[in-house]
Amino acid sequence: MKRVLIIHGPNLNLTGSRETDIYGEVSFEEINNIIKREASKLDLAVKIQQSNSEGEIIDFIHSAKNNFDAIIINPGAYSHYSYAIMDAIGAIDIPVIEVHLSNIQKREDFRHVSVTATRCLGQISGFGPYSYVLALNAVKLLEDSLKE
Ligand code: DQA
Repeated sequence: MKRVLIIHGPNLNLTGSRETDIYGEVSFEEINNIIKREASKLDLAVKIQQSNSEGEIIDFIHSAKNNFDAIIINPGAYSHYSYAIMDAIGAIDIPVIEVHLSNIQKREDFRHVSVTATRCLGQISGFGPYSYVLALNAVKLLEDSLKE
């Protein structure tokens, strides 16, 4: 069974109550339940972590080395400017998929750039909680090419 680390970045813990016109009304807890249900359907093992701190997110990424087969990360606003998280993704040898709840291309100009995505296998953006579901399905589709 492939092991997938889910990392939620800053402010995502407030999903469901913050800027609901953009991020929707599904709570953070419910998003995590959706993730767990989909993972079990796909026969993937998931661990879910959230942090509002850049350094802690980097530690999560480092700790995935040897312990996980893939990472699905929503770096939140760090996507747009954290070269440190970008480098952490580049420093590990496992595939990383970036997800966003909102379609970052449809929003302010500064959100159109994701520096972290430049080190990722791919990016899924704009499908609300289903961005995570689509990313899990991408891991499943690619699982034979992922390292044991
Ligand atoms: C986000 C998009 C980012 O631009 C924003 O800063 C977030 C959430 C998303 O999931 O749509 O915090 O990553």
